[in-house]
Amino acid sequence: MGRGTRGACRATGVARNANIAKLQAGYLFPEIAKRRNAHQEANPDARVISLGIGDTTEPIPAVITDAMAGAAKGLNTLEGYSGYGAEQGKPDLRAGLCEAFYKGVMEPDEIFVSDGSKCDISRLQMMLGPGRSVAVQDPSYPAYVDSSVITGQTGEFDEASGQFDDIVYMTCRPENNFFPDLANTPRTDIIFFCNPNNPTGACATREQLQELVDFALKNGSIVVYDAAYAIFIEDDVPLTIFDIPGAKDCCIETCSFSKYAGFTGVRLGWTVVPKQLKFADGSPVIADFNRIMTTCFNGASNVAQAGGLACVKPGGMEGMMSLVNYYKDNCKLIRQTFVDMGFEVHGGTNAPYVWVGFDGRASWDVFAEILEKCDLVTTPGSGFGPGGEGFVRVSAFGHREDVEEACQRLQKIYGGK
Ligand code: MLT
Repeated sequence: MGRGTRGACRATGVARNANIAKLQAGYLFPEIAKRRNAHQEANPDARVISLGIGDTTEPIPAVITDAMAGAAKGLNTLEGYSGYGAEQGKPDLRAGLCEAFYKGVMEPDEIFVSDGSKCDISRLQMMLGPGRSVAVQDPSYPAYVDSSVITGQTGEFDEASGQFDDIVYMTCRPENNFFPDLANTPRTDIIFFCNPNNPTGACATREQLQELVDFALKNGSIVVYDAAYAIFIEDDVPLTIFDIPGAKDCCIETCSFSKYAGFTGVRLGWTVVPKQLKFADGSPVIADFNRIMTTCFNGASNVAQAGGLACVKPGGMEGMMSLVNYYKDNCKLIRQTFVDMGFEVHGGTNAPYVWVGFDGRASWDVFAEILEKCDLVTTPGSGFGPGGEGFVRVSAFGHREDVEEACQRLQKIYGGK
């Protein structure tokens, strides 16, 4: 309430960030949570199941929580206490990540530990600055487009196309096997590429990744490669973009323990910036990312980093794989349910998301219908961009009994399709 006023709100003299004003609606997942809550309020007896946001549900393996508990208890002792750490992450964790995921490919000091990939995407945008041209897969994880809008990389939203001006939307649909037609894609400074893809669950082959890298090298672009779901890959394709020749000259990779180890609440991720990656003026990108991290971040929580270190040790790696396999079994149930009912089904083998076609019906209508008839939350495909229209994403992150019940409810309503 303004000084001297009662009951009435008074505006400040501060102009609103015009880029934020361009955003059309709230961020996708809070928007979905709002609709879920409204449904629950209207149907107080309903047991709503959420296979909407990809939020992990299963307990973190004990070998990892024990390490975090030990670190937390240690804070109570003189020997175990630590304050600020290196903004780039603890050296032993950087070395452990390198050994576990980038052995012989990257160096530990090219890995920046953080509080998660989503936060790193925004910090990368801050580093890149306004005015860069951006391409995204369409559909794609909404943080790429929204952070581009906020940073000032885009024009206005175009109602007719459902797209922001000045963003290149690289259509990824069944017709092109979910891989963009790069031969007909204009050059941009930055290409956001999520593989395995959220939301479609599609996974690019080695040849396709080489095509992406060659395209970026030819155009002098930087690929921000989001590998948050790489641990789910079962096909014989690279787990990191840095396995692809040329990638160190054009790629940054971001990844996270959120889906690997159930760290959506613990918060721990990392971003890999090769030393040889350069801006147009020849200056190293890693120096600017380091500048951003030291300015905008004080290092990940020391307790979370102790957990991360346990993750990349032998017992932790096995623990993570057993979690991943649990969600993979959920995927099989969801996939099979839709396949049996005769739906068009994609994803769900190299990624924890099943992408279901609903005969071209509007995604938000299908989302509302499934919520209304099955008390089940999904995610409307068009929430990930116009290329997702006609599809609904079903997440495999859930307790087994909830996934089983969700499948039964779906079967009851759509089984006669
Ligand atoms: C999703 O549901 O797409 C993800 O869980 C959201 C995220 O990782 O931020």
